[in-house]
Formats: sequence, C-alpha cells, structure tokens
Amino acid sequence: MATNAMNLSRRNMLLGTGAAVAALGVSPLALAQKTKSMSERNPEPVPPTPDQIRRMKWWHEAKFGMFIHFGLYSQHARHEWAMEDEAIPFDEYTPLSKVFDPAPGSARGWAKLAKAAGMKYMVLTTKHHEGFCNFDTKLTDYCATKQGPGRDIVREYVDAARAEGLHVGFYYSLMDWHHPDGARCATDEAARKRFVAYTHGLIRELLTNYGKIDILWYDVAWPLDADGWESERMNKMVFELQPDIIVNNRNQLLGDFSTPEQHIAAENNGRAWESCMTLNDSWGFQRADDNWKTSKTIVRNLITCARDGGNYLLNIGPQPDGAVPEESVRVLTEVGQWMAVNGETIYKSDPCQPRRSEYASFTRTGNTLYMHVNFWPGEDVAISGLRVKVKSARLLKTNQEVKFSQDPYRVHLTGLPMDAPDSPVTTIALECDGEPRQDTDFVRKNKPRGGM
Ligand code: GLC
Repeated sequence: MATNAMNLSRRNMLLGTGAAVAALGVSPLALAQKTKSMSERNPEPVPPTPDQIRRMKWWHEAKFGMFIHFGLYSQHARHEWAMEDEAIPFDEYTPLSKVFDPAPGSARGWAKLAKAAGMKYMVLTTKHHEGFCNFDTKLTDYCATKQGPGRDIVREYVDAARAEGLHVGFYYSLMDWHHPDGARCATDEAARKRFVAYTHGLIRELLTNYGKIDILWYDVAWPLDADGWESERMNKMVFELQPDIIVNNRNQLLGDFSTPEQHIAAENNGRAWESCMTLNDSWGFQRADDNWKTSKTIVRNLITCARDGGNYLLNIGPQPDGAVPEESVRVLTEVGQWMAVNGETIYKSDPCQPRRSEYASFTRTGNTLYMHVNFWPGEDVAISGLRVKVKSARLLKTNQEVKFSQDPYRVHLTGLPMDAPDSPVTTIALECDGEPRQDTDFVRKNKPRGGM
C-alpha cells in the first residue's frame, strides 16, 4: 500500500484512474466498467436550456470573478497541496486548526479589492481538500467556529461580498484528506454511505444557512464517480435549496459550466465556461512563490475569455492573517484602473470572431469592434481582412476620434500618439456597419502581388 500510495500522482488523483485506482486495490477495468465518465454521459457540449439561460444571465454579464483559497494551508504557507504533497502526518497538520486566527475584517478587504478590480463575483473555498470547514457545522468539530478562529469565516465572507454588491460563490472540495472515510469510501460501502451523508449534509448546511448563494463550485471528485457521490441527488438537493444557483461540472456531472484550469479554452455549442487561474503558481498562499503574472497578462487573458464568450475567475491566496499579498493587490489594482475605463468592452461583450493581429486582440459588442492593442506600435495600427465597413473609430481612453482609411484588405488607423495612451492595453473602438468579421485568407489569396 505504501509503495502504491507513492505512485499516486496528482493528475491521477484528479482523474481517479490509473495509480490512484491501483492504490485502492480496485482493478481499473472493473472501475472503468462501473464508471460512466462525464464525456460518455454527455459526449458533446449541449446548448443551454431556457432555465440555464435564466439562471446564468448575471454570470455571463459579470465575466470576471475573484477566487479565494483560504484555509489551514494558508498558515502553512507552502501551497494548498502541501498536506498531501509533503505527506504531512495527520497529527502534525491538524494543530494548524488551533492557531488559525485571521484578522477580523479580512473578508471585507477581499471584497473591496474584488470590487476595485472590476470583478462582479467571488468564490471562496468553504472546505478544501485538507477537510477543514471554514464555516459553522453540526457535522464536525474540524471547523472555524470550533477551532482557532472561533468565528464563521464563510459568514463574514458572505456579508462582505454582499456589502460590495458582489455575487456569492462557494467552492467545495469533495475530496477530503481529513475525514476517516475520505479514501476508504471507494472500497467500503458502509464508509461510502457515511461519507456521502456527511458530504451532502455539509452542502445542505452551506446552502441553507447563508441566504441566497449564487454559485456552487465543486472540486476534485476523487475517489468516487457520479454514482458513488450520488451526484444527481446532490444537484437535485442543491436546486431545491437554491433555485437560482449555478453549479460547475466537478461533481462528475455536466452542471451549468465547464472549468478549464490554468488555461483558456472555449466550449462548443454555446455551453458556458469559466477559466480559473492563479496570480502566481499557487492557489493557497505560498510564501516563496514569486512567479507573479503582470497586469498586462491578466488583462489580455480577460480579453481572450470575453472574446470567446467565457468568464475569468482569478485567484488570490491570502496570508495566514487574511491579508492579501502585496503583489496581488498591486496587480489587481492596475487591472481595476484599466477596467474603470475599458469595462464596457468586457462586461457587455458578445462572442467575437476577429482575432488575428500580432499586437492586439479583440472583443465585440453588437457591431462595435474593440481593438485592444497590447504592444503599441506607434503612430499607426492596422487590421487585416475586416469584412465590414468601419464607420468611425475612437480611442476609448480619451474619447478622441481616430482617422482611418479602409480598402478591401486593410483598415489603417493613423495619426495616433507615439506612446500608448492607456496602460497596460489601449483600446480603439470601431463602429462597423455590421457584425465584425475578419477573413485573413481572403487577404492572403487576393491582395495584389508584385509582377516578376
Ligand atoms: C485543482 C487543485 C486545487 C484547486 C483547484 C482550483 O483542483 O487541486 O488545489 O483548488 O484546482 O481549480
């Protein structure tokens, strides 16, 4: 068992296959036969139902949210997977719960920062893989109210988000490294029944005790499949308790939206998706992780998500006392300054087809194309192959008209300042006479070439 356990790669943990299965003594074939994977249940992303369209309207318009990873691992300060990835013995890890003591008002700080960054919703880890509940529960003593904090961190978070007018999301990890049944539930039916009752019970408390909750964000389903978790019944309970809520796809059912992680990948068929990403390389606070993304990277990512009809859930990992790392505050503040001017190009945007440029990316609202120039070339910029007529152009930052000419191959914008008028990305709004479409093949095939 010890050797097998060492083979448990993180990816296998996430997928619940291969070594993870071997470690549990279940043959992968047996499990494969029993398990209907998500793609087998639903091979193609399906278009949204009328009820999903109703429940998800605010979320599509929100586009940008804050993810918050906060728990005992924040104090340990070496990434939220440390308990597992350093194989920290149970008795060495759990005392962190006694000294956990976030400063009062921390959650207000997170919510104010989210608002200032232009984010419209928040998603907090109510319970991460370590198993500690940041909320008050009758089902375990391993929770914020009965340990170090002596307060309900989730309650403070909900109140703080609402005070800033932000929508409220709960992250909940199904995988649990603390609960005695958390692993053996895969091979012991009595343990599975207890653990499923515990899990459904915690989710019931979360969706009963805090008023209206907007998002339930499940995570890691290891070691069970949808049948094992009784995920259909789980979602049914969720929607009974919260008829307007939206849920993600990580309890092994499709839910309302997909969750590409640490990369941006659009869904097909109009299915909703949200790309979640860290600001450095860690979700939970990791003291030594200095690999911070720049505000330019964040703004460009947000533009890419909006262009392809998705949302961007960007993470902070608060320090042990609940304060947000300085570098995160700096980047999010810069993003917020950009959003204050450019927000309309994101929130109200529709999926946008034009994408080809070496120094700009695009979003669209109706017939208006927004050219987001990330590497400002100087006094002129151009778009290749735009197949609609441009009626007018202006710099969003200064509202100044921009001169332009257009032929079948090029829109050429001229008379621009040498230095970029906005930072980290400058937006030019082009009013067009139809929905902007770009055809660079047309340019390659037809633009007149020289004679020989
Ligand atoms: C992965 C990680 C987890 C993190 C999550 C965020 O599932 O295991 O630590 O919370 O991604 O999407």
